[in-house]
Amino acid sequence: MKIYIGSDHAGVDLKALIKERFAEVCDFDDAGTFSHDSVDYPDFAHKVANDVLNNPQSLGILICGTGNGMAITANKHAGIRAALCWAPEISALAKQHNNANIIVLPARFIESEVAIETVKSFFDATFEGGRHQRRIDKINI
Ligand code: RB5
Repeated sequence: MKIYIGSDHAGVDLKALIKERFAEVCDFDDAGTFSHDSVDYPDFAHKVANDVLNNPQSLGILICGTGNGMAITANKHAGIRAALCWAPEISALAKQHNNANIIVLPARFIESEVAIETVKSFFDATFEGGRHQRRIDKINI
């Protein structure tokens, strides 16, 4: 599974943990950042969003302090459905109902193990189609 991943300085430790835990099942392409030095989240959100759009079978993971900066930025890209998730139930529904192609995590407001379970649930879930596809078809402007 090809996964484009990126974070700002607030999410760099969680990004490293996710890469470690899912190393056997994911082919990660890491856009950075790679240190705790302060950076600007849009630089990473745009990179991951473009990569996911260019590789339709792939998924993305974006992480910042609250998740909001990454989600707001990524969702500016038509065709990106970036879902801010903080629990496994929410990430499952983000795939099942919204066919989210990027999961966004709030590093400063989620326990590490909950974040791991939230990512796993996102990976394991399947889009249900049907009425949900009809709704997704109405998103882009
Ligand atoms: C960085 O301090 C913080 O603003 C960023 O990680 C994120 O929470 C923005 O939405």
